[in-house]
Amino acid sequence: MSPASLIPVADTLTAPNGWFQFFLMLTFPLHLFAMNAMLGAGLVAFISHLYPGRAYHELSHQLAKALPFLVAFTINLGVAPLLFVNVIYGHLLYSSTVLMGLYWLAVIPILIVAYYLTYIYDFSFRKLGNLAMFVLLAVLALLLTVGFIFSNNMSMMIAPASWSRWFTTPGGTLLNLADPTLMPRYLHMITGSLAVGGLFTALYSATLLKSTPEVSKAGRKLGMQLFTWLTLLQLGVGTWFLLSLPKATMLRFMGGGPIATALLVIGVLLAVATLLTGFKQLVLPTVWLTLPLVYVMSFMRDVVRGNFLAPYFNPTTVPVQIQWSPLIFFLVTLALGIGLVAWMLIRLINTKKAC
Ligand code: HEM
Repeated sequence: MSPASLIPVADTLTAPNGWFQFFLMLTFPLHLFAMNAMLGAGLVAFISHLYPGRAYHELSHQLAKALPFLVAFTINLGVAPLLFVNVIYGHLLYSSTVLMGLYWLAVIPILIVAYYLTYIYDFSFRKLGNLAMFVLLAVLALLLTVGFIFSNNMSMMIAPASWSRWFTTPGGTLLNLADPTLMPRYLHMITGSLAVGGLFTALYSATLLKSTPEVSKAGRKLGMQLFTWLTLLQLGVGTWFLLSLPKATMLRFMGGGPIATALLVIGVLLAVATLLTGFKQLVLPTVWLTLPLVYVMSFMRDVVRGNFLAPYFNPTTVPVQIQWSPLIFFLVTLALGIGLVAWMLIRLINTKKAC
């Protein structure tokens, strides 16, 4: 059976594809920033448990207080890209989701347990003593599992040739483990996430923890170290990911496609620049370089998706039946939501500064 014959027909769009593509590209990195901050803060808190001294202990405690917020932000900021990716690629994503339904449904209970454990880690930090670091370890393991499930789904939806396995294994238990891009893709995501999360911790420590100088210094130092060493490692993991791609896709980044090549060049230059500022422990310049870097990397990821799907599906050919009202309603709600979240964050930061 040809893979193309397994792909359902795409639904009609209510606005030109470009709109949904724009919002997907705008909102997905926001999910990534929150996810990175969550994983990185968790890792720095865990490492701090292993260091002796009051400053590191207090750093873990301060990060414990931030973790429930970061989990909530990651989940909520995942909703918008999930909606947009469903609008554009719904017929592909629903199909791969059904193939791995058991794992996909497991995301919800895993997240509930992880979220609950972050509250236990935060509220019972002192009471738990040395046990606290094991609670945190469980949180990290659960969150990394969720990321792995996402990587499986996002890579399986662009590989319809792997879907026919369902005819012999129809229980919703298929993963994409035989795909040579899966592990480098996941490790590239996670290495980058932990690096950017280290940078977040450095920024958090340098600003919101300023009132306790030794804790602030410890968090800033540890966060920047994590960022720079993992970014250095990422140069290797990223190259592995690039080399694991099918040759035609890889060559687009090596001069074959002007946009893909430009993105790779800009991405590598930005990564090298972050290393230079990172090793000098310059937090803010590194942040300003990392923000566009994450956007460039997610555009590259989209180029990869487009290339994988080229033999099967071109989103620009999906019929459009204009209905502007849902999009306008979304835009108004988005503006109100951003305003509300900004107001809450400002209040939170001001309260923290006053404490
Ligand atoms: C809290 C734990 C979570 C972690 C650690 C996590 C991590 C990840 C990772 C690693 C990817 C990239 C997968 C890849 O392409 O290889 C990803 C993609 C994605 N995540 Fe999350 N995620 C989490 C929760 C969520 C939730 C709850 C949602 C939805 C409500 C969500 C929505 C998305 C979407 C839509 C994408 C793909 C977007 C695209 O392909 O353009 N995530 N996530």
